[in-house]
Amino acid sequence: MKMWSGRFRQPLDPQFERWQRSFDFDRRLLSYELAASGAHARALKNAGVISADELISLLEGLQQIGEMAATSKGLVEDDEAEDVHHFVEKQLVERIGEVGYKLHSGRSRNEQISTDLRLYVRAAIDQLRTELAEVCGVFADRAEQAGGATMPAYTHLQHAEPVLVAHWLLAYVEMFLRDADRLVDCRKRLNMCPLGSGAVAGATLPLDRAFMANELDFEAPTANSIDATSDRDFVLEFVNILSLSALHLSRWAEEMIIFSSQEFGFVQLPEAYSTGSSAMPQKKNPDLLELVRGKAGRVIGSATALVVILKGLPLAYNKDLQETQEPLFDATDTAVELLPLVAGWMKAVEFNDRRMNQAAQSGFMNAWAAATYLVNCGVPSRRAHEQVGKAVKLCLEKQCELQDLTPDELRALNPLFDDKFHHCLKPAAVLAMHDVVGGTAPARVRQGIVAARTKIESLREEVNFHAHA
Ligand code: ARG
Repeated sequence: MKMWSGRFRQPLDPQFERWQRSFDFDRRLLSYELAASGAHARALKNAGVISADELISLLEGLQQIGEMAATSKGLVEDDEAEDVHHFVEKQLVERIGEVGYKLHSGRSRNEQISTDLRLYVRAAIDQLRTELAEVCGVFADRAEQAGGATMPAYTHLQHAEPVLVAHWLLAYVEMFLRDADRLVDCRKRLNMCPLGSGAVAGATLPLDRAFMANELDFEAPTANSIDATSDRDFVLEFVNILSLSALHLSRWAEEMIIFSSQEFGFVQLPEAYSTGSSAMPQKKNPDLLELVRGKAGRVIGSATALVVILKGLPLAYNKDLQETQEPLFDATDTAVELLPLVAGWMKAVEFNDRRMNQAAQSGFMNAWAAATYLVNCGVPSRRAHEQVGKAVKLCLEKQCELQDLTPDELRALNPLFDDKFHHCLKPAAVLAMHDVVGGTAPARVRQGIVAARTKIESLREEVNFHAHA
């Protein structure tokens, strides 16, 4: 039986009937729909709408549906169910008879879908935060293993200054930790329970909304029924966080693709995550990285779809909202699958320390350190910059590095260049000079690793806390 056929004189056009259904994709919300239905059934009993025996049959019916779904791995089939809400009603009636129709007393699918989606996103956030902690852990391990290895840091993709490889790796940890933080923030806002909001104006039965919120581990009931039934901000916010995270991964992937090219040779692509060419026998391609970069486009596409679907919708529920589900699911699946692969790749990749160290020592990356030497001797920074610039010009003519200039050549530019100057050009001295919080001086980077580990640990603890709450 349909959930709404009473006032209709004509049957639905069969093609339209099939087309408007959402069960093919919203069946993945079944476990949340069952949990929310359990909370609603209990509230009905507390409100005196159903008897204790009726509650028991409803809960048994819901449990049986859950067991069936578990054995079919959630891929339940039904050619008639309009959506997951209809499916549960049909199944209930099949199992427990007419009393199954009592479950829908005083509620609307509008509040249900809003509740199910919140539960879905909340669970996805907890999973993604676990995965982000794992990825951050792998990056921190690699930073630790990198020890004193150095590499060029780039601005405009041109040699800028030498840094520790560990310092560069920790940059990504910061991005991923911010993503994890955004997810908690989003979780806080979505963790309000729409149950009892009815179709738009609030439930028509005296249901205890605080009780239902508590049953489902929500913070509190939502404050306004019109908003609660039509709000999908949390979906948009969540998918935007995913697109930001995918963007971070895409930047990382792009950098790795560049670093693995023959011209750079900084990293050796792990064979377990690369493929060959059907034509060119020598090839090993960075497929994982390229797909990560491509998937970012896909997640950003979902975020764009969502914002366009939601824009201009009048209050409150409109069926357009059904279209928010697939982009949400697709973006979530994509992100959830991506992170463990990134962790695996990062564990397996080999850094070519020799190439990186070598690259860190050429291309005048000690020029700013050279200018700072003069600044420390009291020369105004603009003058020092100019004089070292002239030294670089001379080197370019002579095809050498700053450390190869003779004392006379240097003193012609500034008499303050003395014997100690050459020492400050050495890679270790250049690194050590960046001795500020967040800088690449080795002691600061060691502190950075410890600080990152502390943050990762507290992320893990928070996730465990939510998992067991
Ligand atoms: N399948 C619907 C959706 O996802 C459920 C809500 C239906 N509500 C309605 N008034 N037709 O949006």
